[in-house]
Amino acid sequence: KVEIIVLSDPAAVGRHAARLIADTLAGKPDPVLGVATGSSPLATYAELAALVHNGLDLSRASAFALDEYVGLDPAHPEAYHSVIHRTVTVPLGLDPARVHVPNGSAADLRAACADYEAAIEAAGGIDVQLLGIGANGHIGFNEPGSSLGSSTRVKTLAPRTRRDNARFFGGEAEAVPVHCLTQGIGTILRAHSVLLVATGESKAAAVAAMAEGPLGACCPASALQLHERATVVVDEAAASSL
Ligand code: GLP
Repeated sequence: KVEIIVLSDPAAVGRHAARLIADTLAGKPDPVLGVATGSSPLATYAELAALVHNGLDLSRASAFALDEYVGLDPAHPEAYHSVIHRTVTVPLGLDPARVHVPNGSAADLRAACADYEAAIEAAGGIDVQLLGIGANGHIGFNEPGSSLGSSTRVKTLAPRTRRDNARFFGGEAEAVPVHCLTQGIGTILRAHSVLLVATGESKAAAVAAMAEGPLGACCPASALQLHERATVVVDEAAASSL
């Protein structure tokens, strides 16, 4: 049951998504927001920051990121720990103590994954999980082939994803970490609602596979078809293969 909203351009996508998030969190004493990295959600964060500026109070909100590279210093500018701090925590005025990112530099990565799942559960679950989509249909770092029931775990990045993300690492795919921690598809499906944003022609095939293709591990995002409350907000270019 994926509800698809097609808007004219990326700015309209960001405005609409921010409004949906604000409406979902409104009135909750301890709201929990799931946040994503990548360029897709940046317009949404900017619009949410504007809503915060105009009185939306997120100071009690918790946030959980989807994923993190393994082995990057959390202070590295491209570590998702840093990216989330820069693009979400600061502009949205969140309390840094309530912002969680999987610990990709833990000595025991499996324990870090289990701790992460426990922290989400202790917070009462994620009220709304914001998602981008990879060109190969990945969500978080759940690459094609990921188990639809998976929880937070260590994964190997697909060569395509390392190439796509090379631009953040001086253009060198080899400089992109090989492993990551990511919320599982099962984790994402446990969020009370899910909001995926996608813009641009390069996402059109993935958006079509997600919403209209067969449900299966070849397109991890197709798992959203199983969610009772999944909303997809796209611009016309990303909707062009629907
Ligand atoms: C990364 C992130 C994903 C994101 C994807 C798409 O791989 N782990 O969460 O959805 O990139 O990124 P972009 O929005 O920049 O296209």
